[in-house]
Amino acid sequence: MSKTLDEKLEELRQRQDRSEEGGGPERRAREHSEGKLSARERLDLLFDEASFNEIDKLVEHDCHNFGIERQRVPGDGVVTGYGQINGRLTYAFAQDFTVFGGSLSRANAAKICKIMDLALKVGAPIVGLNDSGGARIQEGVASLAGYADIFLRNTMASGVVPQISAILGPCAGGAVYSPAITDFILMTERTSYMFVTGPDVIKTVMHEDVSKEQLGGPRTHNAVSGVAHFIAQDDPDCVTLVRELLSFMPQNNREDPPRIESADPADRSDPELDHLVPAESDRPYDIKEVIRRVVDGGYFLEVHEHFAQNLVVGFARLAGASVGIVANQPAVLAGCLDINASVKGARFVRFCDAFNIPLITFEDVPGFLPGTQQEFGGIIRHGAKLLFAFAEATVPKITVITRKAYGGAYCVMSSKHIRTDVNYAYATAEIAVMGPEGAVNIVYRREFEKAEDPERLRREKVDEFRERFANPYVAAELGYIDEVIRPRHTRPKLISALQMLAHKVDSNPAKKHGNIPL
Ligand code: HXC
Repeated sequence: MSKTLDEKLEELRQRQDRSEEGGGPERRAREHSEGKLSARERLDLLFDEASFNEIDKLVEHDCHNFGIERQRVPGDGVVTGYGQINGRLTYAFAQDFTVFGGSLSRANAAKICKIMDLALKVGAPIVGLNDSGGARIQEGVASLAGYADIFLRNTMASGVVPQISAILGPCAGGAVYSPAITDFILMTERTSYMFVTGPDVIKTVMHEDVSKEQLGGPRTHNAVSGVAHFIAQDDPDCVTLVRELLSFMPQNNREDPPRIESADPADRSDPELDHLVPAESDRPYDIKEVIRRVVDGGYFLEVHEHFAQNLVVGFARLAGASVGIVANQPAVLAGCLDINASVKGARFVRFCDAFNIPLITFEDVPGFLPGTQQEFGGIIRHGAKLLFAFAEATVPKITVITRKAYGGAYCVMSSKHIRTDVNYAYATAEIAVMGPEGAVNIVYRREFEKAEDPERLRREKVDEFRERFANPYVAAELGYIDEVIRPRHTRPKLISALQMLAHKVDSNPAKKHGNIPL
Protein backbone atom coordinates (compact mmCIF):
# COMPACT_ATOMS: atom_id res chain seq x y z
CA MET A 1 0.00 0.00 0.00
CA SER A 2 1.46 3.40 -0.85
CA LYS A 3 2.24 5.75 2.03
CA THR A 4 0.23 8.87 2.73
CA LEU A 5 2.02 12.23 2.46
CA ASP A 6 1.99 12.56 6.27
CA GLU A 7 3.50 9.09 6.79
CA LYS A 8 6.17 9.80 4.22
CA LEU A 9 6.94 13.13 5.86
CA GLU A 10 7.25 11.61 9.34
CA GLU A 11 9.61 8.91 8.08
CA LEU A 12 11.76 11.51 6.30
CA ARG A 13 11.85 13.71 9.41
CA GLN A 14 13.03 10.87 11.63
CA ARG A 15 15.73 9.90 9.15
CA GLN A 16 16.91 13.50 8.77
CA ASP A 17 16.88 14.19 12.52
CA ARG A 18 19.46 11.43 13.00
CA SER A 19 21.54 12.47 10.01
CA GLU A 20 24.73 14.51 10.17
CA GLU A 21 24.16 15.69 6.58
CA GLY A 22 24.21 19.40 5.77
CA GLY A 23 24.59 21.80 8.69
CA GLY A 24 23.78 19.08 11.27
CA PRO A 25 20.79 18.14 13.43
CA GLU A 26 20.76 21.31 15.52
CA ARG A 27 20.41 23.73 12.62
CA ARG A 28 17.94 21.37 10.98
CA ALA A 29 15.82 21.26 14.13
CA ARG A 30 15.69 25.07 14.00
CA GLU A 31 14.39 24.87 10.44
CA HIS A 32 11.79 22.27 11.43
CA SER A 33 10.66 24.43 14.32
CA GLU A 34 9.98 27.24 11.83
CA GLY A 35 7.79 24.90 9.78
CA LYS A 36 10.38 24.34 7.05
CA LEU A 37 11.60 21.02 5.69
CA SER A 38 15.25 20.27 4.97
CA ALA A 39 16.58 20.32 1.41
CA ARG A 40 16.62 16.52 1.19
CA GLU A 41 13.13 16.18 2.67
CA ARG A 42 11.84 18.59 0.07
CA LEU A 43 13.49 16.66 -2.75
CA ASP A 44 12.19 13.36 -1.43
CA LEU A 45 8.65 14.70 -1.57
CA LEU A 46 9.14 16.38 -4.92
CA PHE A 47 10.33 13.26 -6.74
CA ASP A 48 8.56 9.94 -7.22
CA GLU A 49 9.33 7.51 -4.40
CA ALA A 50 13.07 6.77 -4.10
CA SER A 51 13.80 8.06 -7.61
CA PHE A 52 16.12 10.98 -6.76
CA ASN A 53 19.79 10.59 -7.67
CA GLU A 54 22.08 13.06 -5.98
CA ILE A 55 25.17 14.21 -7.79
CA ASP A 56 28.19 16.17 -6.54
CA LYS A 57 27.43 15.14 -2.95
CA LEU A 58 31.08 15.52 -1.97
CA VAL A 59 31.77 18.91 -3.55
CA GLU A 60 33.06 21.46 -1.01
CA HIS A 61 33.79 25.15 -1.29
CA ASP A 62 37.32 26.26 -2.10
CA CYS A 63 37.29 29.60 -0.29
CA HIS A 64 40.10 30.58 2.09
CA ASN A 65 38.76 33.91 3.30
CA PHE A 66 37.75 34.80 6.84
CA GLY A 67 38.53 31.37 8.25
CA ILE A 68 35.78 29.53 6.39
CA GLU A 69 38.35 27.06 5.07
CA ARG A 70 37.85 25.35 8.45
CA GLN A 71 34.10 25.00 7.81
CA ARG A 72 33.64 22.64 4.94
CA VAL A 73 30.44 20.65 4.51
CA PRO A 74 30.12 17.92 1.86
CA GLY A 75 27.71 19.22 -0.77
CA ASP A 76 28.31 22.84 0.31
CA GLY A 77 24.79 24.03 0.91
CA VAL A 78 22.98 22.80 -2.16
CA VAL A 79 21.64 19.36 -3.06
CA THR A 80 21.51 18.75 -6.81
CA GLY A 81 20.46 15.82 -8.97
CA TYR A 82 17.79 14.24 -11.10
CA GLY A 83 14.93 11.80 -10.80
CA GLN A 84 11.39 11.11 -11.91
CA ILE A 85 8.35 13.33 -11.39
CA ASN A 86 5.12 11.66 -12.49
CA GLY A 87 7.41 9.09 -14.14
CA ARG A 88 9.28 11.72 -16.19
CA LEU A 89 12.91 12.81 -15.90
CA THR A 90 13.37 16.11 -14.06
CA TYR A 91 16.45 17.93 -12.72
CA ALA A 92 16.38 19.84 -9.45
CA PHE A 93 18.46 21.71 -6.94
CA ALA A 94 17.54 22.46 -3.34
CA GLN A 95 19.43 25.07 -1.36
CA ASP A 96 20.24 23.93 2.18
CA PHE A 97 19.77 26.79 4.64
CA THR A 98 21.60 24.82 7.36
CA VAL A 99 24.91 25.31 5.52
CA PHE A 100 26.05 28.96 5.50
CA GLY A 101 22.41 29.98 5.28
CA GLY A 102 22.12 28.28 1.86
CA SER A 103 24.33 31.06 0.51
CA LEU A 104 25.71 30.66 -2.98
CA SER A 105 29.40 29.81 -3.25
CA ARG A 106 31.41 29.42 -6.44
CA ALA A 107 31.38 25.66 -5.87
CA ASN A 108 27.65 25.30 -5.29
CA ALA A 109 26.86 27.56 -8.27
CA ALA A 110 28.94 25.13 -10.36
CA LYS A 111 26.81 22.26 -9.05
CA ILE A 112 23.60 24.06 -10.09
CA CYS A 113 25.09 24.92 -13.49
CA LYS A 114 26.06 21.28 -14.03
CA ILE A 115 22.49 20.02 -13.69
CA MET A 116 21.17 22.92 -15.77
CA ASP A 117 23.59 22.05 -18.57
CA LEU A 118 22.51 18.40 -18.39
CA ALA A 119 18.83 19.35 -18.41
CA LEU A 120 19.34 21.45 -21.53
CA LYS A 121 21.28 18.73 -23.36
CA VAL A 122 18.80 16.02 -22.43
CA GLY A 123 15.69 18.19 -22.74
CA ALA A 124 14.07 17.92 -19.29
CA PRO A 125 12.55 20.43 -16.84
CA ILE A 126 14.52 22.14 -14.09
CA VAL A 127 13.05 22.78 -10.65
CA GLY A 128 14.83 25.11 -8.20
CA LEU A 129 13.98 24.94 -4.50
CA ASN A 130 15.29 28.27 -3.23
CA ASP A 131 16.12 28.95 0.41
CA SER A 132 19.21 31.10 0.65
CA GLY A 133 20.83 34.11 2.28
CA GLY A 134 22.14 35.12 -1.16
CA ALA A 135 25.71 35.50 -2.31
CA ARG A 136 28.24 33.80 0.03
CA ILE A 137 29.63 36.94 1.61
CA GLN A 138 33.09 35.47 2.30
CA GLU A 139 33.58 34.63 -1.40
CA GLY A 140 33.03 38.08 -2.83
CA VAL A 141 33.03 38.29 -6.60
CA ALA A 142 33.45 34.52 -7.03
CA SER A 143 29.94 34.16 -5.67
CA LEU A 144 28.56 36.94 -7.86
CA ALA A 145 30.12 35.17 -10.85
CA GLY A 146 28.30 32.02 -9.76
CA TYR A 147 24.98 33.87 -9.85
CA ALA A 148 25.69 35.29 -13.29
CA ASP A 149 26.58 31.79 -14.54
CA ILE A 150 23.15 30.61 -13.37
CA PHE A 151 21.34 33.63 -14.87
CA LEU A 152 22.92 32.90 -18.24
CA ARG A 153 21.73 29.31 -18.13
CA ASN A 154 18.22 30.36 -17.03
CA THR A 155 18.11 32.61 -20.07
CA MET A 156 19.40 29.95 -22.48
CA ALA A 157 16.95 27.39 -21.08
CA SER A 158 13.98 29.78 -21.36
CA GLY A 159 11.55 28.42 -23.93
CA VAL A 160 13.60 25.23 -24.32
CA VAL A 161 12.83 23.34 -21.09
CA PRO A 162 10.26 24.32 -18.44
CA GLN A 163 11.83 26.00 -15.41
CA ILE A 164 10.01 26.25 -12.08
CA SER A 165 11.16 28.08 -8.96
CA ALA A 166 9.83 27.41 -5.48
CA ILE A 167 10.73 30.02 -2.89
CA LEU A 168 10.77 28.27 0.47
CA GLY A 169 12.78 30.69 2.58
CA PRO A 170 14.74 33.89 1.93
CA CYS A 171 15.56 34.93 -1.63
CA ALA A 172 17.16 38.35 -1.54
CA GLY A 173 19.32 40.72 -3.55
CA GLY A 174 20.35 39.83 -7.08
CA ALA A 175 19.50 36.21 -6.24
CA VAL A 176 15.87 36.99 -7.12
CA TYR A 177 16.77 37.25 -10.79
CA SER A 178 17.22 33.54 -11.32
CA PRO A 179 13.64 32.72 -10.25
CA ALA A 180 12.44 35.84 -12.08
CA ILE A 181 13.70 34.47 -15.41
CA THR A 182 12.08 31.06 -14.86
CA ASP A 183 8.55 30.28 -16.02
CA PHE A 184 6.70 29.99 -12.72
CA ILE A 185 7.38 31.08 -9.14
CA LEU A 186 5.68 29.46 -6.15
CA MET A 187 5.98 30.87 -2.63
CA THR A 188 5.10 29.35 0.73
CA GLU A 189 2.93 31.10 3.34
CA ARG A 190 4.86 32.54 6.31
CA THR A 191 8.33 31.18 5.44
CA SER A 192 9.20 32.75 2.08
CA TYR A 193 10.14 36.22 0.99
CA MET A 194 11.81 37.86 -2.00
CA PHE A 195 13.21 41.35 -2.40
CA VAL A 196 16.00 43.16 -4.20
CA THR A 197 16.78 45.33 -1.15
CA GLY A 198 15.59 44.47 2.33
CA PRO A 199 13.71 46.53 4.96
CA ASP A 200 16.92 47.79 6.66
CA VAL A 201 18.36 49.31 3.49
CA ILE A 202 14.98 50.76 2.59
CA LYS A 203 14.79 52.39 6.02
CA THR A 204 18.27 53.89 5.66
CA VAL A 205 17.98 55.09 2.09
CA MET A 206 14.30 55.88 1.68
CA HIS A 207 13.26 56.45 5.33
CA GLU A 208 10.40 54.03 4.78
CA ASP A 209 9.24 51.50 7.38
CA VAL A 210 8.16 48.20 5.93
CA SER A 211 8.18 44.67 7.25
CA LYS A 212 9.80 41.74 5.46
CA GLU A 213 6.36 40.24 4.82
CA GLN A 214 4.83 43.45 3.49
CA LEU A 215 7.81 44.06 1.27
CA GLY A 216 8.32 40.65 -0.24
CA GLY A 217 6.08 38.06 1.35
CA PRO A 218 3.93 35.65 -0.66
CA ARG A 219 0.81 37.86 -0.53
CA THR A 220 2.72 40.85 -1.86
CA HIS A 221 4.24 38.97 -4.77
CA ASN A 222 1.09 37.04 -5.66
CA ALA A 223 -1.43 39.85 -5.38
CA VAL A 224 0.44 43.13 -5.80
CA SER A 225 3.68 42.82 -7.78
CA GLY A 226 2.70 39.73 -9.80
CA VAL A 227 6.25 38.38 -9.43
CA ALA A 228 4.94 35.05 -8.06
CA HIS A 229 2.27 32.82 -9.57
CA PHE A 230 1.19 30.56 -6.69
CA ILE A 231 0.92 30.58 -2.89
CA ALA A 232 1.35 27.23 -1.16
CA GLN A 233 0.45 26.61 2.47
CA ASP A 234 3.75 24.97 3.34
CA ASP A 235 6.63 22.97 1.85
CA PRO A 236 4.70 19.72 1.17
CA ASP A 237 1.86 21.67 -0.44
CA CYS A 238 4.38 23.56 -2.55
CA VAL A 239 6.18 20.53 -3.97
CA THR A 240 2.83 18.86 -4.64
CA LEU A 241 1.86 21.95 -6.64
CA VAL A 242 5.13 21.80 -8.59
CA ARG A 243 4.38 18.18 -9.53
CA GLU A 244 0.85 19.15 -10.58
CA LEU A 245 2.09 22.05 -12.68
CA LEU A 246 4.66 19.89 -14.47
CA SER A 247 1.96 17.36 -15.38
CA PHE A 248 0.56 19.86 -17.91
CA MET A 249 3.89 20.49 -19.63
CA PRO A 250 6.01 18.67 -22.16
CA GLN A 251 9.60 17.80 -21.28
CA ASN A 252 10.91 20.40 -23.72
CA ASN A 253 9.92 22.62 -26.63
CA ARG A 254 10.29 19.82 -29.20
CA GLU A 255 7.70 17.59 -27.54
CA ASP A 256 3.96 17.76 -27.03
CA PRO A 257 2.51 17.84 -23.52
CA PRO A 258 1.57 14.44 -22.08
CA ARG A 259 -1.96 13.23 -22.77
CA ILE A 260 -3.89 11.41 -20.12
CA GLU A 261 -7.00 9.20 -20.24
CA SER A 262 -10.04 11.30 -19.43
CA ALA A 263 -13.15 9.79 -17.87
CA ASP A 264 -15.13 12.88 -18.88
CA PRO A 265 -16.99 12.21 -22.18
CA ALA A 266 -15.77 14.35 -25.08
CA ASP A 267 -19.34 14.85 -26.28
CA ARG A 268 -20.67 15.97 -22.89
CA SER A 269 -22.92 18.99 -23.26
CA ASP A 270 -23.99 21.12 -20.29
CA PRO A 271 -27.47 22.74 -20.42
CA GLU A 272 -26.57 24.90 -17.38
CA LEU A 273 -24.17 26.84 -19.61
CA ASP A 274 -27.13 28.18 -21.60
CA HIS A 275 -28.12 30.23 -18.53
CA LEU A 276 -24.74 31.18 -17.14
CA VAL A 277 -23.96 34.18 -19.30
CA PRO A 278 -26.55 36.90 -18.58
CA ALA A 279 -28.17 38.45 -21.64
CA GLU A 280 -27.83 41.93 -20.06
CA SER A 281 -24.44 43.10 -21.15
CA ASP A 282 -23.62 44.82 -17.85
CA ARG A 283 -24.50 41.96 -15.47
CA PRO A 284 -21.43 40.26 -14.02
CA TYR A 285 -20.89 36.48 -13.89
CA ASP A 286 -17.96 34.26 -13.01
CA ILE A 287 -16.07 33.09 -16.10
CA LYS A 288 -14.34 30.43 -13.97
CA GLU A 289 -17.73 28.73 -13.64
CA VAL A 290 -17.91 28.56 -17.46
CA ILE A 291 -14.35 27.19 -17.63
CA ARG A 292 -14.97 24.52 -14.99
CA ARG A 293 -18.15 23.35 -16.72
CA VAL A 294 -16.29 22.91 -20.00
CA VAL A 295 -12.96 21.25 -19.08
CA ASP A 296 -12.24 17.63 -18.12
CA GLY A 297 -13.60 16.78 -14.68
CA GLY A 298 -14.14 20.47 -13.92
CA TYR A 299 -10.45 20.75 -13.03
CA PHE A 300 -8.77 24.09 -13.70
CA LEU A 301 -5.30 24.86 -12.31
CA GLU A 302 -5.40 28.62 -12.10
CA VAL A 303 -2.09 30.48 -12.53
CA HIS A 304 -1.64 33.95 -11.00
CA GLU A 305 -4.95 33.54 -9.16
CA HIS A 306 -4.46 36.59 -6.94
CA PHE A 307 -3.02 39.01 -9.52
CA ALA A 308 -4.98 41.03 -12.10
CA GLN A 309 -8.14 39.07 -11.43
CA ASN A 310 -9.89 40.75 -14.36
CA LEU A 311 -8.08 38.21 -16.55
CA VAL A 312 -8.05 34.52 -15.67
CA VAL A 313 -5.27 32.23 -16.94
CA GLY A 314 -4.42 28.63 -16.18
CA PHE A 315 -4.15 25.02 -17.28
CA ALA A 316 -6.84 22.43 -17.86
CA ARG A 317 -7.42 19.39 -20.04
CA LEU A 318 -9.83 18.72 -22.86
CA ALA A 319 -10.27 15.04 -23.77
CA GLY A 320 -7.05 14.41 -21.83
CA ALA A 321 -4.93 17.00 -23.69
CA SER A 322 -3.34 19.98 -21.90
CA VAL A 323 -4.66 23.39 -22.84
CA GLY A 324 -3.82 26.89 -21.67
CA ILE A 325 -6.89 29.01 -20.92
CA VAL A 326 -7.03 32.80 -21.12
CA ALA A 327 -10.34 34.40 -20.14
CA ASN A 328 -11.67 37.85 -19.38
CA GLN A 329 -13.38 37.89 -15.98
CA PRO A 330 -16.59 39.98 -16.15
CA ALA A 331 -16.91 39.67 -12.35
CA VAL A 332 -13.84 41.90 -11.82
CA LEU A 333 -13.53 45.40 -13.38
CA ALA A 334 -16.22 44.22 -15.83
CA GLY A 335 -13.47 42.16 -17.51
CA CYS A 336 -11.61 45.25 -18.79
CA LEU A 337 -8.01 44.76 -19.89
CA ASP A 338 -5.57 46.85 -17.88
CA ILE A 339 -1.79 46.98 -17.59
CA ASN A 340 -1.46 44.09 -15.15
CA ALA A 341 -3.93 41.86 -16.96
CA SER A 342 -2.16 42.46 -20.27
CA VAL A 343 1.24 41.57 -18.87
CA LYS A 344 -0.14 38.54 -17.04
CA GLY A 345 -1.89 37.28 -20.17
CA ALA A 346 1.05 37.92 -22.48
CA ARG A 347 3.47 35.96 -20.33
CA PHE A 348 1.10 33.02 -20.05
CA VAL A 349 0.38 32.97 -23.79
CA ARG A 350 4.11 33.00 -24.55
CA PHE A 351 4.72 30.11 -22.14
CA CYS A 352 2.00 28.01 -23.79
CA ASP A 353 3.26 28.86 -27.26
CA ALA A 354 6.86 28.00 -26.36
CA PHE A 355 5.79 24.61 -25.04
CA ASN A 356 3.22 23.52 -27.62
CA ILE A 357 0.20 23.92 -25.38
CA PRO A 358 -2.93 24.94 -27.38
CA LEU A 359 -4.63 28.16 -26.31
CA ILE A 360 -8.33 28.47 -25.56
CA THR A 361 -9.60 32.03 -25.11
CA PHE A 362 -12.92 32.96 -23.51
CA GLU A 363 -13.71 36.53 -24.41
CA ASP A 364 -16.03 38.99 -22.70
CA VAL A 365 -14.28 42.33 -22.72
CA PRO A 366 -15.65 45.88 -22.85
CA GLY A 367 -12.25 47.27 -23.82
CA PHE A 368 -9.08 48.59 -22.24
CA LEU A 369 -9.49 50.27 -18.85
CA PRO A 370 -9.70 54.05 -19.37
CA GLY A 371 -8.04 56.68 -17.17
CA THR A 372 -4.89 58.67 -16.58
CA GLN A 373 -3.44 56.02 -14.29
CA GLN A 374 -3.52 53.48 -17.09
CA GLU A 375 -2.39 55.88 -19.82
CA PHE A 376 0.47 57.30 -17.74
CA GLY A 377 1.43 53.76 -16.74
CA GLY A 378 1.81 52.81 -20.38
CA ILE A 379 -1.30 50.78 -21.19
CA ILE A 380 -0.39 51.30 -24.85
CA ARG A 381 2.92 49.49 -24.42
CA HIS A 382 1.62 46.86 -22.02
CA GLY A 383 -1.59 46.14 -23.92
CA ALA A 384 0.57 45.65 -27.01
CA LYS A 385 2.35 42.79 -25.24
CA LEU A 386 -0.82 40.73 -25.13
CA LEU A 387 -1.58 41.53 -28.76
CA PHE A 388 1.97 40.64 -29.78
CA ALA A 389 1.91 37.39 -27.80
CA PHE A 390 -1.36 36.17 -29.32
CA ALA A 391 -0.35 37.25 -32.83
CA GLU A 392 3.02 35.53 -32.61
CA ALA A 393 1.68 32.26 -31.16
CA THR A 394 1.66 29.35 -33.60
CA VAL A 395 0.03 26.71 -31.38
CA PRO A 396 -3.60 25.78 -32.08
CA LYS A 397 -5.72 28.77 -31.04
CA ILE A 398 -9.46 28.70 -30.40
CA THR A 399 -11.61 31.59 -29.16
CA VAL A 400 -15.12 31.62 -27.75
CA ILE A 401 -16.80 35.04 -27.50
CA THR A 402 -19.30 34.69 -24.68
CA ARG A 403 -20.55 38.27 -24.65
CA LYS A 404 -18.73 41.56 -25.24
CA ALA A 405 -15.91 41.90 -27.75
CA TYR A 406 -15.44 45.63 -28.13
CA GLY A 407 -12.89 47.78 -29.84
CA GLY A 408 -9.17 47.08 -29.76
CA ALA A 409 -9.76 44.39 -27.19
CA TYR A 410 -11.72 42.44 -29.85
CA CYS A 411 -8.61 42.38 -32.03
CA VAL A 412 -6.27 41.58 -29.14
CA MET A 413 -8.17 38.69 -27.56
CA SER A 414 -7.12 36.09 -30.11
CA SER A 415 -9.31 37.32 -32.96
CA LYS A 416 -9.41 35.63 -36.36
CA HIS A 417 -7.27 38.43 -37.78
CA ILE A 418 -4.25 37.50 -35.68
CA ARG A 419 -4.21 33.91 -36.88
CA THR A 420 -6.68 32.27 -34.54
CA ASP A 421 -7.74 29.00 -36.10
CA VAL A 422 -11.30 28.63 -34.86
CA ASN A 423 -13.50 31.45 -33.55
CA TYR A 424 -16.83 30.67 -31.95
CA ALA A 425 -19.41 33.03 -30.49
CA TYR A 426 -22.50 32.54 -28.37
CA ALA A 427 -25.70 34.21 -29.57
CA THR A 428 -25.23 36.65 -26.64
CA ALA A 429 -22.01 37.97 -28.24
CA GLU A 430 -21.76 41.68 -29.03
CA ILE A 431 -19.00 42.54 -31.44
CA ALA A 432 -18.61 46.25 -32.06
CA VAL A 433 -16.20 49.17 -32.05
CA MET A 434 -17.65 50.18 -28.69
CA GLY A 435 -20.76 49.72 -26.54
CA PRO A 436 -24.06 51.06 -27.98
CA GLU A 437 -24.36 53.96 -25.49
CA GLY A 438 -20.88 55.31 -26.21
CA ALA A 439 -21.27 54.77 -29.94
CA VAL A 440 -24.55 56.69 -30.39
CA ASN A 441 -23.25 59.61 -28.33
CA ILE A 442 -20.48 60.07 -30.85
CA VAL A 443 -22.31 59.27 -34.07
CA TYR A 444 -25.57 61.14 -33.33
CA ARG A 445 -24.28 63.99 -31.13
CA ARG A 446 -25.58 66.73 -33.45
CA GLU A 447 -29.00 65.05 -33.85
CA PHE A 448 -29.36 64.80 -30.05
CA GLU A 449 -28.53 68.51 -29.67
CA LYS A 450 -31.27 69.43 -32.14
CA ALA A 451 -33.91 66.87 -31.04
CA GLU A 452 -37.10 67.85 -29.23
CA ASP A 453 -36.87 64.75 -27.04
CA PRO A 454 -33.18 63.83 -27.04
CA GLU A 455 -33.64 61.02 -24.47
CA ARG A 456 -36.21 59.24 -26.61
CA LEU A 457 -34.06 59.60 -29.71
CA ARG A 458 -31.05 58.31 -27.77
CA ARG A 459 -32.97 55.19 -26.67
CA GLU A 460 -34.13 54.56 -30.23
CA LYS A 461 -30.62 54.91 -31.60
CA VAL A 462 -29.18 52.65 -28.90
CA ASP A 463 -31.73 49.95 -29.79
CA GLU A 464 -31.02 50.40 -33.48
CA PHE A 465 -27.28 50.18 -32.89
CA ARG A 466 -27.64 47.11 -30.70
CA GLU A 467 -29.83 45.42 -33.31
CA ARG A 468 -27.30 46.12 -36.04
CA PHE A 469 -23.95 45.54 -34.32
CA ALA A 470 -24.31 44.12 -30.84
CA ASN A 471 -24.60 40.53 -32.00
CA PRO A 472 -22.28 37.96 -33.55
CA TYR A 473 -23.99 37.75 -36.93
CA VAL A 474 -22.22 40.57 -38.80
CA ALA A 475 -18.86 39.01 -37.84
CA ALA A 476 -20.18 35.58 -38.80
CA GLU A 477 -21.30 36.88 -42.22
CA LEU A 478 -17.79 38.19 -42.79
CA GLY A 479 -16.21 34.88 -41.74
CA TYR A 480 -14.55 36.37 -38.66
CA ILE A 481 -16.67 34.04 -36.52
CA ASP A 482 -16.71 30.48 -37.83
CA GLU A 483 -19.85 29.41 -36.02
CA VAL A 484 -22.40 30.75 -33.57
CA ILE A 485 -22.71 27.95 -31.03
CA ARG A 486 -25.07 27.13 -28.18
CA PRO A 487 -23.24 27.52 -24.87
CA ARG A 488 -24.20 23.98 -23.84
CA HIS A 489 -22.13 22.61 -26.74
CA THR A 490 -18.92 24.48 -25.86
CA ARG A 491 -17.02 21.40 -24.67
CA PRO A 492 -17.72 19.11 -27.66
CA LYS A 493 -17.09 22.01 -30.06
CA LEU A 494 -13.72 22.85 -28.48
CA ILE A 495 -12.65 19.21 -28.42
CA SER A 496 -13.54 18.62 -32.04
CA ALA A 497 -11.71 21.82 -33.07
CA LEU A 498 -8.65 20.76 -31.06
CA GLN A 499 -8.65 17.35 -32.71
CA MET A 500 -8.97 18.98 -36.12
CA LEU A 501 -5.92 21.13 -35.26
CA ALA A 502 -3.85 18.33 -33.75
CA HIS A 503 -1.30 18.38 -36.57
CA LYS A 504 -1.29 22.14 -37.15
CA VAL A 505 1.98 23.53 -38.48
CA ASP A 506 2.48 27.27 -38.58
CA SER A 507 5.58 29.42 -38.37
CA ASN A 508 6.85 32.98 -38.15
CA PRO A 509 9.35 34.62 -40.51
CA ALA A 510 13.01 33.77 -39.84
CA LYS A 511 14.43 36.33 -37.43
CA LYS A 512 16.86 36.54 -34.55
CA HIS A 513 13.97 37.42 -32.27
CA GLY A 514 11.01 39.76 -32.35
CA ASN A 515 10.91 43.02 -30.43
CA ILE A 516 7.95 42.57 -28.09
CA PRO A 517 7.20 45.98 -26.50
CA LEU A 518 8.73 45.36 -23.07
C1 HXC B 1 27.42 33.67 4.22
C2 HXC B 1 25.50 33.51 5.43
C3 HXC B 1 24.83 34.35 4.52
C4 HXC B 1 25.56 34.83 3.38
C5 HXC B 1 23.44 33.79 6.05
N1 HXC B 1 24.60 33.21 6.37
N2 HXC B 1 23.54 34.51 4.91
N3 HXC B 1 26.77 33.18 5.28
N4 HXC B 1 26.85 34.46 3.28
N5 HXC B 1 24.99 35.59 2.45
C6 HXC B 1 24.87 32.35 7.51
C7 HXC B 1 24.84 33.09 8.84
O1 HXC B 1 26.12 33.62 9.10
C8 HXC B 1 24.47 31.97 9.79
O2 HXC B 1 25.61 31.19 10.05
C9 HXC B 1 23.53 31.11 8.97
O3 HXC B 1 23.79 31.43 7.60
C10 HXC B 1 22.08 31.39 9.25
O4 HXC B 1 21.87 32.79 9.16
P1 HXC B 1 21.08 33.59 10.29
O5 HXC B 1 21.34 35.01 10.03
O6 HXC B 1 21.42 33.02 11.62
O7 HXC B 1 19.58 33.20 9.93
P2 HXC B 1 18.29 34.07 10.06
O8 HXC B 1 18.25 34.78 11.39
O9 HXC B 1 17.17 33.16 9.74
O10 HXC B 1 18.40 35.20 8.94
C11 HXC B 1 18.39 34.84 7.59
C12 HXC B 1 18.82 36.04 6.69
C13 HXC B 1 20.18 36.60 7.20
C14 HXC B 1 17.74 37.12 6.78
C15 HXC B 1 18.89 35.53 5.28
O11 HXC B 1 21.07 35.52 7.35
C16 HXC B 1 20.77 37.58 6.27
O12 HXC B 1 20.35 38.74 6.28
N6 HXC B 1 21.75 37.14 5.48
C17 HXC B 1 22.41 38.03 4.55
C18 HXC B 1 21.50 38.35 3.41
C19 HXC B 1 22.19 39.17 2.36
O13 HXC B 1 22.26 40.41 2.53
N7 HXC B 1 22.76 38.51 1.36
C20 HXC B 1 23.40 39.16 0.31
C21 HXC B 1 22.30 39.64 -0.60
S1 HXC B 1 22.96 40.37 -2.06
P3 HXC B 1 25.81 30.38 11.39
O14 HXC B 1 27.15 29.78 11.26
O15 HXC B 1 25.68 31.38 12.50
O16 HXC B 1 24.72 29.36 11.44
C22 HXC B 1 23.18 39.11 -3.01
C23 HXC B 1 23.77 39.50 -4.30
C24 HXC B 1 23.48 38.50 -5.33
O17 HXC B 1 22.90 38.02 -2.74
C25 HXC B 1 23.91 39.15 -6.60
C26 HXC B 1 23.62 38.35 -7.78
C27 HXC B 1 23.89 39.17 -8.97
